Amino acid sequence: MVKICCIGAGYVGGPTMAMIAYKCPDIQVVVVDISASRINAWNSDRLPIFEPGLDDVVRSCRGVNLHFSSDVESHVADSDIVFVSVNTPTKTRGLGAGKAADLTYWESAARMIADVSTSDKIVVEKSTVPVTTAEAIEKILTHNNPGKHDFQILSNPEFLAEGTAVADLASPDRVLIGGRGDTEGGRKAIAALKAVYARWVLEDRILTMNLWSAELSKLAANALLAQRISSVNAMSALCEAMGANVSEVAYAVGKDSRIGPKFLSASVGFGGSCFQKDILNLVYICECNGLPEVANYWKQVVQINDYQKARFVQRVVSSMFNTVSGKRIAISGFAFKKDTGDTRETAAIDVCHGLLGDKAQLSIYDPQVTEEQMRRDLAMAKFDWDHPQHLVPSSPTAASGQVAVAWDAYAAAKGAHAVCVLTEWDEFKKLDYQRIYEGMEKPAFFFDGRNVVDVDALRKIGFIVYSVGKPL
Ligand code: NAD
Ligand code: UGA
Repeated sequence: MVKICCIGAGYVGGPTMAMIAYKCPDIQVVVVDISASRINAWNSDRLPIFEPGLDDVVRSCRGVNLHFSSDVESHVADSDIVFVSVNTPTKTRGLGAGKAADLTYWESAARMIADVSTSDKIVVEKSTVPVTTAEAIEKILTHNNPGKHDFQILSNPEFLAEGTAVADLASPDRVLIGGRGDTEGGRKAIAALKAVYARWVLEDRILTMNLWSAELSKLAANALLAQRISSVNAMSALCEAMGANVSEVAYAVGKDSRIGPKFLSASVGFGGSCFQKDILNLVYICECNGLPEVANYWKQVVQINDYQKARFVQRVVSSMFNTVSGKRIAISGFAFKKDTGDTRETAAIDVCHGLLGDKAQLSIYDPQVTEEQMRRDLAMAKFDWDHPQHLVPSSPTAASGQVAVAWDAYAAAKGAHAVCVLTEWDEFKKLDYQRIYEGMEKPAFFFDGRNVVDVDALRKIGFIVYSVGKPL
């Protein structure tokens, strides 16, 4: 029986391994993590991440062929295939700070694999890493375990999106496996991993290629996805200036089969743990390889995203007679997208910081984000969310009573001068806006950063509405 061990029980490690265990009852899967609390949560009734459909998948195989453990070393030692799915955040200090990927966690995982291995292993890069990381890992493994065991390195980047992870894993557009197809050991390793996915993924969707192409394809895919959002967000600014409607423009543009309709929703800005991090990583790689023009091209995607968030704050403040000082503003949604409780790099953090800087009183509601998480996010310096050891409060305002957390959207809006929708939760489409209007100060402003509400209906009620990329 094949034994798979995955190092890192996070948003990727947990769901991907649960899907492998679910689809392959004859494979033993163990997910390990240095965080005992995360492992305890995976073993409890309340999983550490909210992901639609995940509870059922985990429940059906946990304790059978799916296990979560903090005994990292012993499970790595006797596994045949070791996935490494640890975090690879942006470096916060030293060479490349603010751009380069921090491979500290990756390197320590690799050193540990070399130290504890008692048999040959296939080591799979699941984390998103800089191009040529596989070579570095290979060196660490072979130099620290000389001649004893054979290590084959594969790149198998993950393309799931949060909120749809289970569906994405069950029916992926493609599975990518990069390896050394020019050696016999490499070919065998590629075939072994391919055989795992082939249990449920059509063979023509499993792509094999060389290691560097696989590593770069992951960064390229995220860069292109984020670039579409920044492109449509840039258009949204122009639409507002010209009286055009960005939803109509995106619809018309997306009808072109060469462009397609997906990822063209204008928003307050993209968030999430990866788009910005991976583009900055790409920028850094380009700079290090003497390609400043290419680096600048991709940098613009992040700059437009920052501009979009700043533009939203500016719109709020300027519409409300140039001051939000002391005014209560309801924030509807804090997660970086709907159907997740994840707040990493959510646009809400920057928007809230902007409004707090202008002395607003915030009243925040999100169906999946805890108060503790919101307060932690608002007190943290940029990039520090993934570096717990560097936690330094950067915004004293967040701790100073300017932030209240509400239990629903109605409570958040009660007595508020404005509502800002920052996450596209479905429930925000169905609220009783007449009731919300009646409970608010007048004029009642509504700033829809996600284009979820019916602008005409809200205007009829009496709201002054701003919706990203829509005529004012
Ligand atoms: P995460 O922070 O949720 O999980 C990483 C886990 O690794 C943490 O629980 C941490 O405790 C653990 N860890 C770190 N070092 C360890 C070590 N030496 N030994 C054991 N455990 C260790 O991160 P994530 O969101 O799952 O992302 C993981 C990787 O996958 C990143 O490279 C990310 O870019 C990539 N990725 C993420 C997504 C996503 O949707 N979140 C999608 C595709 C790819
Ligand atoms: C993204 C990619 O979609 C995944 O393929 C990839 O595996 C993952 O990053 C990763 O590498 O981490 P994710 O960040 O989970 O997935 O979610 P997305 O659906 O891509 O949304 C990212 C952000 O863009 C969200 O804030 C979302 O609201 C925003 N977005 C998305 C828009 O503003 N407009 C759109 O049209 C689409």
